[in-house]
Amino acid sequence: MTMRPEGALAPLAVGRVEMARRAAAPAVDPAVSEFRPGAHEMPRFFVWTLGCQMNLSDSEEMAGQLLAVGCERAPSLEMADLIVINTCAVREHAEAKVIGRQGQLAELKRTKPGVRVVLTGCGVRESERTGLARRFPAVDTFLRPDEEPELALRLGLVSAQAPVGLQTATTAATTVVSGRPVSAADHLAPNRATALAEGRVARSSTISAWLPIVYGCDKTCTYCIVPFSRGPERSRPFDDIVAEARSVAAAGFQEATLLGQNVNSYGHDLPAEARFGHISTRRSSGRRLDLRGRPDLAELLRSIDAITGADGRPAIPRLRFITSHPWDLSDRLIGAMSECPSVCEHLHLPIQSGDDVTLQRMGRQYTVDHYRDRLTRIRAAVPGIAVSTDVIVGFCGETEAQFAATLKVMEELRFDTVFAAAYSPRPGTPALRMADDVPAAVKRRRLNELLALQESIGLERNGEWLGRNVEVLVERITPRKRQAADEDNPADDASLRVPSLYGAAGEGSVALAGRTRHNKLVHLSGDAALVGSAVTVRIEFAGPFALRGRLLPERAIAPTS
Ligand code: SAM
Ligand code: SF4
Ligand code: F3S
Repeated sequence: MTMRPEGALAPLAVGRVEMARRAAAPAVDPAVSEFRPGAHEMPRFFVWTLGCQMNLSDSEEMAGQLLAVGCERAPSLEMADLIVINTCAVREHAEAKVIGRQGQLAELKRTKPGVRVVLTGCGVRESERTGLARRFPAVDTFLRPDEEPELALRLGLVSAQAPVGLQTATTAATTVVSGRPVSAADHLAPNRATALAEGRVARSSTISAWLPIVYGCDKTCTYCIVPFSRGPERSRPFDDIVAEARSVAAAGFQEATLLGQNVNSYGHDLPAEARFGHISTRRSSGRRLDLRGRPDLAELLRSIDAITGADGRPAIPRLRFITSHPWDLSDRLIGAMSECPSVCEHLHLPIQSGDDVTLQRMGRQYTVDHYRDRLTRIRAAVPGIAVSTDVIVGFCGETEAQFAATLKVMEELRFDTVFAAAYSPRPGTPALRMADDVPAAVKRRRLNELLALQESIGLERNGEWLGRNVEVLVERITPRKRQAADEDNPADDASLRVPSLYGAAGEGSVALAGRTRHNKLVHLSGDAALVGSAVTVRIEFAGPFALRGRLLPERAIAPTS
């Protein structure tokens, strides 16, 4: 998972009566209208999503639930009766952002009695439930990530006649460390398949779809709060995922991204079946995993890739997956990546550190040599593949020499993109038993040093695209405000460090942005109607974090190598 730079405010919505503002939707069948309960007002909601792609996907499900019971979206947080905050807790800063909003939320509730605030996501952990009200005083209701499917129900927005899927269902799942449960995920979604069938997933894009495949994480990275907030791994049934991919394809989505904290462990907890008898991967992942006869990510990629359109090509042209743990990256997966035409030539493979002792303290299970071996194999199997990674600097006990080893590995492996962060101690994690002994100023300095190095590597990697024709899936019109912000802020991922980052938009053209199959951000000018299309672009400028190009007349893709 990668953190988005901003917890961009995206639409969200509590007690039944007080929040009410909107009339419920009228009964469809006039014959039964006399049995309809009196029209009551439904709240307008706004979902504020922070964190990674999994949170974005979860927010789509929560918004879908609220829309299904008759709520409407509010255009802004300030105009909402119901505010749902889907939090991230990966670093202290992410939680501080929401804590810092408590004053504003309290004021909103004072001036608009009836406003209710729900806090969900990784900030809500069972082990710390008692302290939540003190830390988030403006919040009325707290839901753990696995409780999110009960949002509408808990708010009293679901009538007794609600579809079965909206009623609660429980399946126990807890993470146990040394015989003690450390996280719970015992209110699992009744079934995403039901939510999908009943239209209760409000996708935020019509171009790219999120497809969660495995929830939770069984790894024990010592710095990481995710296993405590999201509980143990639970894989979705294979056929449910393929069916969702089929419906995504039928709806015309151009891209699908399979989601999980560690997608490479997909399937190990599903029952063995004869049809998966050819799968025999064995590996250990904290505990010993036996994948014999069970589906894996490679099988899933192949099955989704095999969904074809009338032209015989993959019906979802771009297939991605995130995040891969280096220890669990199998040869079977590498094979599927190289053989499935829809699987994009990009891999996010977090390395975290370039020093074996630090990796061991981080509980990452692999060595730099293992990582190097995986990368070499992938680069051989998928020539030109773009690779992004995550790095933590200033982890407990990291010496100058160990940090220098990370820089050296970065110079050697030459990543396309690096998401780097200073270590932030997280409550309840095993790393709290180690001394957080790298001073804040040293962490900052190391982070800047690493980012400066990556800037030059990124520039060189992106320079390889100059003069080439690439397929760009146009995702959005770039708002003017965003353009100004990008040009002011050279650290922004869109910055090209040139006077006009976006180029001059010609007559009838607007500034557009999209991504290549290699996940490169490309700026171009063109007709607004191109959003959602794959176009051919000649790359004319390369910066460290993005490319800029000229739209070519041909719509069909003719990439040059
Ligand atoms: N499972 C994914 C993985 O292994 O990359 C996602 C993990 S986490 C949600 C995303 C990234 O946040 C991690 O790769 C790590 O670099 C960073 N991260 C996690 N915990 C951190 C902490 N305590 N301090 C700083 N960065 C952290
Ligand atoms: Fe956290 Fe490690 Fe799991 Fe990723 S693999 S979510 S870093 S514990
Ligand atoms: Fe994602 Fe943040 Fe949770 S990165 S998994 S929302 S801690």
